[in-house]
Formats: sequence, C-alpha cells, structure tokens
Amino acid sequence: MRNVSVTLLAVCMAVGACKTDKLNNPVPEDTGEKYHTLADPEKILKESNANVLIGAAVSATQLAEVGSAYRETVKKQYNCITAENDMKMNALNTSKYVWNFAAKSTIPQFAKEFGFSRIHGHVLVWHRALPAHVTDVKTANASNTQKRDTLLNMMRRHINKTVAYYTNNFKNSSGQPLLKSWDVVNEAYDDAGVLRTGNGTEGSIWMNYIGESYIETAFRYARQAANASNNPDLKLFYNDYGHEYSVAKRNAIYNKVNELKAMTEGGKSIIDGVAMQMHIRYNTSKANVEAAILKMKQTGLKVFIAELDINLRSATEQTANTVLSASEIATREILQKQLYKDVADAYTNIVPVNQRWGITLWNVGDGDSAWGDGARACLYDLTYFRKTNFYYFFDGLKIRL
Ligand code: G3I
Repeated sequence: MRNVSVTLLAVCMAVGACKTDKLNNPVPEDTGEKYHTLADPEKILKESNANVLIGAAVSATQLAEVGSAYRETVKKQYNCITAENDMKMNALNTSKYVWNFAAKSTIPQFAKEFGFSRIHGHVLVWHRALPAHVTDVKTANASNTQKRDTLLNMMRRHINKTVAYYTNNFKNSSGQPLLKSWDVVNEAYDDAGVLRTGNGTEGSIWMNYIGESYIETAFRYARQAANASNNPDLKLFYNDYGHEYSVAKRNAIYNKVNELKAMTEGGKSIIDGVAMQMHIRYNTSKANVEAAILKMKQTGLKVFIAELDINLRSATEQTANTVLSASEIATREILQKQLYKDVADAYTNIVPVNQRWGITLWNVGDGDSAWGDGARACLYDLTYFRKTNFYYFFDGLKIRL
C-alpha cells in the first residue's frame, strides 16, 4: 500500500497534479498545501542546512543488517552518528582491565565506510550503563577512601583507553579522527538541579564516593587523554536533559559548565560544549525550548541538540505504556510535527553558526525508539517510511542557514 502511495505521489508530482489529487497523497490533509509539495522523496536531511550536521543515535545490531530499510535510511539521511548503547562503559569496559573495542566497531566502521562527517562519542562517565566491576565497588569490603581511589582509577583508565582508541583507529579521508566529540559526563543533576546522590538507580556512584569533583576530574582526564593522543581538536561535552522543563536544573548546568570553562589542561579549556538531550513531548512549548537553548548559548560553548525525539505520550502514559486512541494520536501529531519544526527553527535562530554542533535524533523510526513504538516519537514510522514530522523538521532547518 505504501509503495503504491509513494509511486502515485512521484507520478503526480512529475505531472504537477499533486495539489489537487489529495486521494493519492500519503501526507495527511491537515498538513496544509505547503507540505504536499514538500513531500519529496529526494529531500535528504543532511542536505537541509549546510550549517547544521544532522545525526541519529543507532544500534549496531540493526545497522549490521545489510540492505535493511534502517541501514539505508541512516546511510542516506545523516552525516553524524551516535551509538545509542555501543560506546557506553558497560559495552566497552566489560571487565576490570578488559576493553571490548573491536567487537563494538560496527558503528565507527560504518561511519568511516560511508563518509560520515562525525562520530559523536556517548558516553564516558554516567551513573547508568555501568559494568559490574564498577557497581560492585559499592559493596566491596573497603573503606570509603579506598572506594573513592578505586573508582578514580577505573574512571581514568576507561577515559584514557577509550579516547585513545577512537582517536587512533578511525580517521576520515583527511587523516583526522572521525570521532570529534565525547559526552564526558552525562546526567549529573536531578530535576531539582541537585547533583544525583544515593545508592538507588537514580543515584550516582561517582558522586557518592568521589563527590562533586568527579565532574571536573572526568573532564581533566578526558582533556589529558586527548592531549596525550595528539588530538587537540577533540570536543568535550557535558550532556543532560530537562533544560526545557526545569529552570533550576538548567541554571545548575549553566553554572557548572561556566566553572569548567575556566579550567585548563595543557593550555586548553577542559570543556567545549553543552549537549542538550531534548527528549521532549508533543505539548512542550516552543517558548520553553527557546529559553533552554538561549541559556546554553549564553555559555559561549558549542551547543548540541544531542538526543532529540518528541514523545506523543505524557510521562504518566509513558510509564503506564498507555495505548493512545486514534483521535488522541491525530490531535497530538499536529502539535508534534509543529514542534519538530520549532526545535529546528529555534536552534538555527538562537545559536550562531560558530557555536553549533548540530542536531542528532534519538533513534531513527518508531520501532527502534527508546520509548517504544507507542510513543510514536520519531521522524520515521515502523517501516522507515517518512512521517510528516520529517518534512516539518526539514522545513524548520531550511528557514535559515
Ligand atoms: O543488551 C541487552 C540484551 O542482551 C538483553 O537481552 C536485553 C533485555 O532487556 O537488554 C539489553 O540491554 C538493554 C539496552 O538498552 C539495549 O537494548 C538494557 O537493558 C537497557 O537498559 C538499555 O537501555 C538504554 C538506556 O539508555 C540505558 O543505557 C536505551 O536503549 C537507550 O536508548 C538509552 O539512552 C539514553 C541515553 O544513553 C542518555 N539519555 C537518555 C537516553 C534515553 O533513555
């Protein structure tokens, strides 16, 4: 059915009949005349704006399926790539002195083979996705000082090994490292703007045993590792979510990254950018998105929208895995697609070209979304057919260079 629609669309566009032939048009009627003409299969996200790199977070397993719609979509549409899970500490540093780099090379190999502009590294230090040798430190028969020293050693070794490995093993056609940026620390703050603490799933083992200085230390280790591997251009990011809904959190992040900005290793600042995840919902306001981006722009650092998706469910519905009715979906999709456009518009409007690090979408289609297919959060549907979101996002990027 889809193929038939696509073919009919291509034919009607070729003969200029599309504007009146709504029956054959796969774009919903509510999108307006403008979007009927935008529904062009040749529109490519990475070509939408020369000053915004467009990325996707991908799964190595899915990417490895040669000929799949998933792989072909990633290859064609994006020029920046993030590993959704395959470069987290539990994926790479599988036991205390063992790093699993070769087994996790699908994504960097793919980026190199298909001429991607950049791999974004996600993530060096996080309170989640930790290997057992790190989490076991909690219950080890040792003093808190010994636990602190052990964790610092584990952090330093992991950062050194990982930064050096990607610097040395994946180069672009000009011989420069293809991995150009790392999330050094991820999600240090809770929604009240307080550093995560405690031993629960929302707590941070790094904070518990090292204290607040773990953030600065991680950035220092990362800059030292970049300098040691002769990679002065590696960009180091602080990554978090919620800038758009918690003023307290975004102020805490703003203050922390400003502190880090003044610190140096080998004559270079230890931080280059702020990654805003931007996991938002259909009813997030454009004003909140703009305020969040503006605040991060005011740091003077690079600003990266690092994990964009727009969930059709509220937080409560997401937790309950609520199945939305057809009419709720239809109503919310109207806001969702407009918000995709608004985010692209806000980013290019607020962030000057020299502070942009691009926009990366979290996942490709609704079927591989981190929130499940019921969230309908992505640009592509279950079969990797473009949703109207795609065209609105594309249009938002086109508004200005
Ligand atoms: O790999 C195992 C597999 O062997 C096992 O069979 C399966 C059973 O549940 O689990 C698999 O691991 C899961 C992994 O995703 C791969 O699917 C983990 O349990 C699950 O916790 C993990 O979730 C990821 C989550 O981060 C935690 O690392 C999500 O896919 C990923 O989308 C999400 O990404 C985060 C960013 O890193 C940070 N920002 C928020 C974002 C969304 O939550």
